[in-house]
Amino acid sequence: MIEPLVFELSRCARRGYDYPSCDVPQVDVPVALKRMKAAALPELSELDVVRHFSRLSNRTFGVDYGVYPLGSCTMKYNPKINEKTASLEAFTHIHPLQDSDTVQGALKLMYRLLEALSTVTGMSWGSLQPSAGAHGEYTGLKIIKAYHLANNQGHRNRVIVPVSAHGTNPASAALNGFEIVEVATDERGLIDLTSLDALLDDRIAAIMLTNPNTLGLFERDIVLIANKVHQAGGLLYYDGANLNAIMGMARPKDMGFDVVHLNLHKTFSTPHGGGGPGAGPVLVSKPLVPYLPKPDIVCVDGTYRFDWDSSLSIGKVAGFWGNFLVLVRAYTYIVRMGLHGLREASRHAVLNANYLLAKLEDLLDHPYGNFCMHEFVLSAQSLKDETGVSALDIAKGLLDCNYHPPTIYFPLIVHEAMMFEPTESESMENLDILADTLRMLIQTARTDVAVLKRAPEHTVIGRVDEVLAAKSPVLRYVRKETTEG
Ligand SMILES: Cc1ncc(COP(=O)(O)O)c(C=O)c1O
Repeated sequence: MIEPLVFELSRCARRGYDYPSCDVPQVDVPVALKRMKAAALPELSELDVVRHFSRLSNRTFGVDYGVYPLGSCTMKYNPKINEKTASLEAFTHIHPLQDSDTVQGALKLMYRLLEALSTVTGMSWGSLQPSAGAHGEYTGLKIIKAYHLANNQGHRNRVIVPVSAHGTNPASAALNGFEIVEVATDERGLIDLTSLDALLDDRIAAIMLTNPNTLGLFERDIVLIANKVHQAGGLLYYDGANLNAIMGMARPKDMGFDVVHLNLHKTFSTPHGGGGPGAGPVLVSKPLVPYLPKPDIVCVDGTYRFDWDSSLSIGKVAGFWGNFLVLVRAYTYIVRMGLHGLREASRHAVLNANYLLAKLEDLLDHPYGNFCMHEFVLSAQSLKDETGVSALDIAKGLLDCNYHPPTIYFPLIVHEAMMFEPTESESMENLDILADTLRMLIQTARTDVAVLKRAPEHTVIGRVDEVLAAKSPVLRYVRKETTEG
């Protein structure tokens, strides 16, 4: 049954609250500021509200319910201790405008988180302000732009992006006013060095790479690539949305990168999905530190404070100090794990991905490489040619089996792509059952196509028209006029 909206459950004059009687003098609100018509807010009892949200919460699917191998998204388990610290009143009851003397603990946490992220990436310092990966990219490229301008290289207006890049990479470059040029991927699934050479000239501001790349492969020519780009006067931007394969094993700075953003809401175990709050801190190498957003957090004689001082800074990029409670969760995770634990997490993430890959390789095409890092991309093209069943149909079939599907149709260079990222959280048994389920679905594709074309049948909402949903989304409730007005 479809769950009605709170507006549809609303009944005139039903209430779920009681205001205490007013204990301050009443004031007259100027007529110009008064509503002429009551706001169309839903009117419900407390029980109505509790039941509505409880029903909805039972219908959602999260990593706490089942396996969620959504490639590129690192839907790993978020330890509950992170929630516990993030709900401490000392963190939730403070205000961003409080005097820094009164929030020393919060500032210390942010300072230490920056230290930890600098250690993991090898970078010199950073900013915790950006609220998402894309926001981190935007900030990082703004820093690169400011650096070039300050060094009389303002003519550098091109950013190189691989054809397999996440869509936010070219989008962030375009938002910063850069022209985007694409570098090809070779038959290994890695950056095509000949294609790169042809692009390197004095118009290049930066190259944006993710390593391991979106095919789940480590760019093993990365040091050579970094040297080439630096020689051409460009900088290297590391899209570290998915650091899950290399934590404590390899550092972007050692690969030759100058700027990194991290998605704390992926690698550092903050819940995400559905556009929830995230954090995309930016870390930079020493020459770029003066360009970081302000304010910075500094520690002088054991006292933490905000530092606004810099003529070169790109300025503030977010309200107040970023999504603070996300930072608390990430810091808790890092402290709890330690460097050794982070390294183990990465090792298990890579092991799990390779285990699942080995179990699925005979079912679907594996276009690039023999091994993978934390994720891998298969193609359902041969299956589609043979049976008519597409990557989308298999993904919908998985929903009926209580799995969140893998990412599909990304990266764009793989036809009928299915991108799996099991993460370090899953046990071998869970991966075995997932592989068996996929085997069963692919068998179904060969025997009863209609079942998969109809899927999902056991979910609240069946198959939706995804093109219509993407092109004409209905995002606003329009109240039906009733006689009640
Ligand atoms: C490789 C990569 N880069 C960037 C992003 C953007 O991160 P966000 O969704 O937080 O903006 C993602 C998110 O999926 C990603 O996978």
